[in-house]
Amino acid sequence: MSYPYQIRSFEEYQVAYKKSVENPESFWEEIASNFKWHKKWDAVLNWNFNEPKVEWFKGGQLNITENCLDRWVEIQPNAPAIIWEANNPDEKDRTLTYKELHQQVGQFANVLKNNGARKGDRICIYMPMVPELAIAVLACARIGAIHSVVFGGFSAQSVSDRIQDAQCNIVITADGAFRGNKTIPLKSVIDEALITCPSIQKVIVLSRTGIAVSMMNERDTWWEDEMKKVADAPLCPAEIMDAEDMLFILYTSGSTGKPKGVVHTCGGYMVWTNYTFVNVFQYQSGQVHFCTADIGWVTGHSYIIYGPLSAGATTLMFEGIPTWPNAGRFWDIIEKHKVEILYTAPTAIRSLMAFGKDPIEGKDLSTLKVLGTVGEPINEEAWHWYDDNIGKNNSPIVDTWWQTETGGVLISNLAGVTKAKPSFATLPLPGVQPVLVDENGNEVSGNNVSGNLCIKFPWPGMLRSTYGDHERCRTTYFSTYKNLYFTGDGCLRDSDGDYRITGRVDDVLNVSGHRIGTAEVENAINMHSGVVESAVVGYHHDIKGQGIYAYVILNSMHTDEAHMRQDISQTVAKVIGAIAKPDKIQFVSGLPKTRSGKIMRRILRKIAEGETSNLGDTTTLLDPLIVEEIKNNKL
Ligand code: WT7
Repeated sequence: MSYPYQIRSFEEYQVAYKKSVENPESFWEEIASNFKWHKKWDAVLNWNFNEPKVEWFKGGQLNITENCLDRWVEIQPNAPAIIWEANNPDEKDRTLTYKELHQQVGQFANVLKNNGARKGDRICIYMPMVPELAIAVLACARIGAIHSVVFGGFSAQSVSDRIQDAQCNIVITADGAFRGNKTIPLKSVIDEALITCPSIQKVIVLSRTGIAVSMMNERDTWWEDEMKKVADAPLCPAEIMDAEDMLFILYTSGSTGKPKGVVHTCGGYMVWTNYTFVNVFQYQSGQVHFCTADIGWVTGHSYIIYGPLSAGATTLMFEGIPTWPNAGRFWDIIEKHKVEILYTAPTAIRSLMAFGKDPIEGKDLSTLKVLGTVGEPINEEAWHWYDDNIGKNNSPIVDTWWQTETGGVLISNLAGVTKAKPSFATLPLPGVQPVLVDENGNEVSGNNVSGNLCIKFPWPGMLRSTYGDHERCRTTYFSTYKNLYFTGDGCLRDSDGDYRITGRVDDVLNVSGHRIGTAEVENAINMHSGVVESAVVGYHHDIKGQGIYAYVILNSMHTDEAHMRQDISQTVAKVIGAIAKPDKIQFVSGLPKTRSGKIMRRILRKIAEGETSNLGDTTTLLDPLIVEEIKNNKL
């Protein structure tokens, strides 16, 4: 099996890129014809960035699961589709061939139908990293239901917000999840969330950990029992979808308000995840691809499930964490399953780096051919450690820049095909037209320049809307600069024309590769009854990339500070999830504000970074003295 649209040399990249810009419609039409469609599209592309309206392959009919499953069952029924490695290394791994996965998906799709699911329904999935999570996702797509996967680390409140926003009618969950030496009670989080979610009719519960759960009459049912009921039924046929029908919603944080539901559609997303998977990682038939992300994030959607499976690849799913039972776990998995492509995050690399070389000693990593990184800028030290110790200077590293909103990779080198450069994502993929703009919205041309990163032409995998609030999609991404999609990232283009992403320019933090809005954390902190006001900023953190620094005004300064810090952290964990707990909480008597009442975050950011001079102009502040107090008590 080979991919006719796989770019194999720098010259081919240049030809493809040029064609994608000069003649995007015929470029994408040719690529899209490699997939299984029931009816051809009426138009390759309709678009304007003002509404915004973006349609790819409109009128085309397909089902993404036929492209991920049925297509491969015909060609390679016994090829492994999913290899699963359990949290506990003593538990046996599992392999599902394409035939088996197809069968499980078809069966679980029948379960969903039996429980009242129909095309267009929204289904919330809150599960551990087990094959049934992938089966649940694909079964939704099979029947045309829209999945909304929520990461298992989010709190009941966060789950409830997301279920209500999308008005889901079904939840798929498990009794619990194993993560390292912990057992996380997923079902009880769902029970708490559902108190405020009247739209939910059914909860399907996979048994994974065996911990005690309460099952509510009529509403809750076991996955295993439901599967038995449909054991003899014919497998569920694929629902015919329009290319522009919704495939999924995935919630992500922004600079204001609650997380928004990014909407992706069937046709364009399929083509984009497949095209980027095959080209960025240079996937070759039979290779084992190990993406270490959780399926609760977009990386898992695109590069554990849809990209690899639509390419007939073998995708490895790992239930646990990189440091349990010890810091050699990734390397054991690579040796055991002969992994050829490893795709992970800088934060994971840095945390493993901290354990030194011992955990790698004696591990056979010789199967590795391609290494990938994603989620945040990678510092040069981590890049070289990855290159020297994991790739043995023999595996190209792809630094892949993209976002939940972009569906798949937009800027990256192509493994071994275009050159790598430490800490640079390098060049745009065919179809991607990046521009840098200055603060006045003017395009900065030429090389050796920096600016805010925008994209000026649609690509098939881009978001179509934010669920239930299209205007929010317009204001967030398409109104800052006219006729441009604004990414929220700062970026520079060096003398070679290579792109280096420098990080967010808005109030969004990137903590261990997780995207968290400062406003969200502030709202959570302010829910604590002892808090008057707070301001949250990011600061450099050696392992996490960014840490969360909170400045908090209490309504009484006489309480036990250590205890208060714990309480506030607990509140944040309850409202958002443990991933958003502040790393530092400094109690202050006031915040630096302008006369119009705006918090001067610029100053707070600098103090959190440890700067003492050069705080900029503070004379316009309502109370300039507060800056001295905050500086003197910095943590
Ligand atoms: C933000 C998007 C893309 C999947 C995981 C994160 C940052 C992502 C890189 C990279 C520098 C990166 C950006 C982006 N980011 N990849 N290779 N180099 N920064 O998805 O949660 O939507 O976050 O992650 O700041 O805007 P996400």
